[in-house]
Amino acid sequence: MPTRVLVAYGTTNGSTAQIAEAVAEILDKEGLTAEALPARSVESVAPYDAVVVGGALYAGRWHKDARRFVRRHRHELAERPLWLFSSGPLDPSASERDIPPVPGVKKVMVRLDAREHVTFGGRLEEGAKGWVARMILRSGKGGDFRDFTAIQAWAAHVAAEFVGAAS
Ligand SMILES: Cc1cc2nc3c(=O)[nH]c(=O)nc-3n(C[C@H](O)[C@H](O)[C@H](O)COP(=O)(O)O)c2cc1C
Repeated sequence: MPTRVLVAYGTTNGSTAQIAEAVAEILDKEGLTAEALPARSVESVAPYDAVVVGGALYAGRWHKDARRFVRRHRHELAERPLWLFSSGPLDPSASERDIPPVPGVKKVMVRLDAREHVTFGGRLEEGAKGWVARMILRSGKGGDFRDFTAIQAWAAHVAAEFVGAAS
């Protein structure tokens, strides 16, 4: 049986979904069977051998879909290899250094014994929902700071760790 990996994500404007899809694509390429799904649409994690959870950062917190997902499935998640990622910074900082998890995500890491967390840069572009988003855009702070080379490298590293853990 191939190793099945769920990549569950919480997104408002779609950029975290694209990161999750890129992660799932690399996991597939590395020989696992991965699927990226919106965290809110996942009824059970029982069919999966390992889980990656990613959430956009909003006002210093993980996206609510990611928070609810880890709360709802905490028992199953605690029994599976688990990796977490956040996406947020609207500047190159995430490509330049490790950005630690926000406090809520740090708690999740500890409680569920997650193997690792990484922060990727975010994206904010015209059409984003909400007036705060529009204010940020108007002040010239938007852009796409996602580093897909780093995202793919991290996914390959997750795949390697999982294969290592399973053997
Ligand atoms: C209202 C608002 C609040 C945000 N708060 C944070 C934050 O606290 N930390 C951070 O790193 N990025 C923050 N961001 C940037 C978002 O995390 C970034 O745009 C992210 O890529 C959005 O993901 P999504 O497209 O999947 O919703 C914020 C953006 C908006 C519009």
